[in-house]
Amino acid sequence: MKICIDCDDAAVNLKKILFEHLKSKGIDIADLDYSASKEGALYPEIGFNLAKQIQVGKFDRGISICGTGLGMAMIANKVEGIYAGVCHDVFSAERLCKSNDAQIITMGERVIGPELAKTIIDAWLLSEFQGGGSTAKVEQMRALEKQSFNKE
Ligand code: RB5
Repeated sequence: MKICIDCDDAAVNLKKILFEHLKSKGIDIADLDYSASKEGALYPEIGFNLAKQIQVGKFDRGISICGTGLGMAMIANKVEGIYAGVCHDVFSAERLCKSNDAQIITMGERVIGPELAKTIIDAWLLSEFQGGGSTAKVEQMRALEKQSFNKE
């Protein structure tokens, strides 16, 4: 599984910690580091870039971090076919994949400590969509999404 990670100026420390944590576990992870190519970049463009990389198939999943995780989730969900949720607990992070089939987890460095963040990411990486009763719900979300993107 190929993972990407990025953050805005409010989450530089947590991004570094999570990147190094996953690297040390042998995970195939890339730091997109959007801000390196654009000084003063804001969370919408950073999160949009990460979501687009997943949309085009360069990565399977992404970790997008800002001060709260809220802005990164909002912008990722504006990319067609991409689903993201803020997770600051293990149960939500597992359900994000198992029930919602989302590709992006978001977090806020101003909300969560690094040790809990690492535990959450580890649980998230082990989780896969389980289908079953969730399939119809996710399919309905995809169908409704098409209306928002003016395709139907
Ligand atoms: C800081 O720019 C803050 O607004 C941002 O990191 C994020 O928390 C937005 O949701």
